[in-house]
Amino acid sequence: MADTINNNDKAILTLPGHEPVALPIVRGTAGDPAIDITSDLRKNTGYVSLDYGYHNTASCQSAITYLDGEKGILLYRGYPVEELAEKSRFIDVAYLLINGHMPNKQERLEWSSLLNRHSLIHEDMRHFFSHFPDGAHPMAILSAMVVSLSAFYPEVSQNALGTEAINIAATRLLSKVRTIAAFSYKKSIGEPVVHPRHDLRYCANFLNMMFSSPVAPYEFKREVIRALNTVLIVHADHEQNCSTSAVRAVGSAHVNLYAAVAAGICALWGPLHGGANQKVVEMFEDILARGETARQAIERIKREKKLLFGFGHRIYKTYDPRAKIVKKSCMELLDKMHIDDPLLATMLEMEELATHDDYFLSRHLYPNVDFYSGVVYRAIGIPKEMFTVMFALGRLPGWIAHWMEALDDPRFKLQRPRQVYVGPSLRHLTDDECYYGDQMKV
Ligand code: ACO
Repeated sequence: MADTINNNDKAILTLPGHEPVALPIVRGTAGDPAIDITSDLRKNTGYVSLDYGYHNTASCQSAITYLDGEKGILLYRGYPVEELAEKSRFIDVAYLLINGHMPNKQERLEWSSLLNRHSLIHEDMRHFFSHFPDGAHPMAILSAMVVSLSAFYPEVSQNALGTEAINIAATRLLSKVRTIAAFSYKKSIGEPVVHPRHDLRYCANFLNMMFSSPVAPYEFKREVIRALNTVLIVHADHEQNCSTSAVRAVGSAHVNLYAAVAAGICALWGPLHGGANQKVVEMFEDILARGETARQAIERIKREKKLLFGFGHRIYKTYDPRAKIVKKSCMELLDKMHIDDPLLATMLEMEELATHDDYFLSRHLYPNVDFYSGVVYRAIGIPKEMFTVMFALGRLPGWIAHWMEALDDPRFKLQRPRQVYVGPSLRHLTDDECYYGDQMKV
């Protein structure tokens, strides 16, 4: 049996048949400790660590986002997410995540103008949209289009990783993904695309590309723009989540930014991750279609050991702070727009029941960011197939910041985990199993 003893700044690991190994203890800003096994464990002992799902493993040191899952704390570059959601715009938070500080007035102007400058997509790329089949999932379109950016803007390859090239690629991506997202929606409903406008700010521009048409201009509402900023901010980063880890893993092979982010988009699509926002709304539509009460639905989920989508989180063992922000924003938006969403009453009741039910309490299951975000999107007029695209739009600054941080970190290496092999031992082909043998088969 292996055991570890904390000896001030070293952990002493004792393994059968080995001298004790001293492993360095690394501490984060808040004092949270980690045992650094990077260089000493396998080299000195032959052992590797086995950690399914990385419940106990930090893959890197990062200065972007701090998250305490027990206390429900989330900080972007040190700022509480609640404060940013209350007082900032999404693009300023994007700037903060990517550059490490909030933009001053001058930087804000330059950033806005850069985002505007890069918002158009190459005319040849625009033709791609018409070749996707009707009803194609917008996440399939988004991931394909983002990786295609590397064909149209190839200068950000490994051979040209200058700071300026990276900054342009990052800005271009933030700006163009918004255009691509809106174009995919227009494609899915068979309407002509609406081009970005230089006189509109980031969120207003997106809403205009989504909802204005040749016959009716989009009517901007302050509360809608505010709510959109809020949901994008709470999605902007979440340290080493599944999609960000995908971006870092793929990025570690030194692919270009677009290819790394496309990998993140694909990971995000999964229903256990970003795809949960679509699943939440589908689940509630199903509950209403069955004519179930919230209590009946909860009992069925428990009995059948189904997932209550929008609940539970790998890190949060308490209420997700982002869910609180989104819930508040959702209530305010619906109130201001006089919308009575039939799903909301059941959602609120389910939350009340589940957060007082031992089944969920004992497993530390509380609403996560995806529980209420779908109701906000519905109020804005965004269809459920687009929900995960909205998540991707929000998470983009986080992915970019992590990709940049990783490339800048001298300790960052090609991500290539070990495994514990449990398959057959060495064996040889029988004569019957051979294709090429004494007698050549045709
Ligand atoms: N509803 C019901 N039971 C759940 C839920 C849920 N939402 N989540 C976890 N559980 C149960 C599991 O069945 C398991 O029960 P058991 O101990 O009886 O076997 C126990 O809680 C522990 O669950 P794990 O799957 O081991 O927890 P893990 O940390 O691996 O999973 C996850 C986290 C994937 C988010 C999970 O809670 C889940 O699937 N939630 C629903 C999907 C969802 O909302 N995803 C979005 C997460 S937020 C984000 O990615 C943006």
